Amino acid sequence: MKKRIFSGAQPTGKLHIGNYLGALKNWVALQDDYDALYCIVNLHSITLPQNPDELRRNTLDLARVYLAAGLDPSRSIIFVQSDVPQHAELAWVLSCITRLGELERMTQFKDKGKGNTERVGVGLLTYPVLMAADILLYQTDLVPVGQDQKQHLELCRDIAERFNRDFGETFRIPDPYIPKAGASIKSLLDPERKMSKSDENANGSIFLTDDADTILKKFKRAVTDSGTAITFDESRPAINNLLTIYQLVTDKTAEECVVHFEGKGYGQFKPELAEAVIEFLRPFQEKVQHFDDEHVTNILKEGAEKARAIAAVTLQDVYSRMGITR
Ligand code: TYM
Repeated sequence: MKKRIFSGAQPTGKLHIGNYLGALKNWVALQDDYDALYCIVNLHSITLPQNPDELRRNTLDLARVYLAAGLDPSRSIIFVQSDVPQHAELAWVLSCITRLGELERMTQFKDKGKGNTERVGVGLLTYPVLMAADILLYQTDLVPVGQDQKQHLELCRDIAERFNRDFGETFRIPDPYIPKAGASIKSLLDPERKMSKSDENANGSIFLTDDADTILKKFKRAVTDSGTAITFDESRPAINNLLTIYQLVTDKTAEECVVHFEGKGYGQFKPELAEAVIEFLRPFQEKVQHFDDEHVTNILKEGAEKARAIAAVTLQDVYSRMGITR
């Protein structure tokens, strides 16, 4: 039996190269060796206000991105979270064994809530419980994510262990899969912050749909640190970030990258980096237009059927252990 993978992304805004290098690239690589489920987590998106028409469109667009990136519906189950009602149902159950203190400690809640607990939506607080439900419903072994999701995954493990302790072995305890390089791609304008979909300034992110001109301009504007050498150096976060992007899109080793740019400066490095990213995204950008709505909708429908069959078994087990059903 193959081990199982679950992961997902929110259909909120456009995906950027951080999402691709931190998560999607690994999802594609792992689908050969694992039994994989990849979800479009639309119920997570509504923790912040969304325009309904945009959310609908973004959901289909994200499915297109998954397919164009190389997720293969004949090998992986690709589906939309809200098509499988067990996610929301299990989230309620798990919220009853999750502690308020645990949720209040989540750094993403603290960042997004900005300390304004009087007015912030409760969904923003309970979001990690829904995420735990996503993962645990499928008896997941491995969850490939970027660094920013690590804390949510630790909470998921704690919740699963607590449930197993109180009600008997029910959930498999998932491990995170966080890549060594690319787990936290930084903003091009501020290398102390991660590249983020919610960043107001689009120049900090390279979006997967950016054209060649835009990509070149954004890299030219990218901030740099003091010093001129093009090397990996923890004390110089800007060049570290740019060189990591170069390394991942060219599939070179770190040493090969450093040797390649020895004696060269930013004047040569930045256009070469832009070219490498443009070439990396080209096949993806060509493919992404080829999946029409009907085709995508059919794939998602089939995916949801398969996902529901697995999720129903877990939820039934949970309910029966808790005395909800006989
Ligand atoms: P989301 O939609 O914010 O991001 C999707 C994936 O991209 C990764 N990522 C990054 N990786 C590297 N550098 C960055 N700058 C960067 N920004 C984002 C994220 O870590 C993520 O892997 N809560 C999740 C979605 C989710 C989920 C799940 C994931 C819901 N349920 C269950 C795994 C399992 C999120 O908001 O991801």
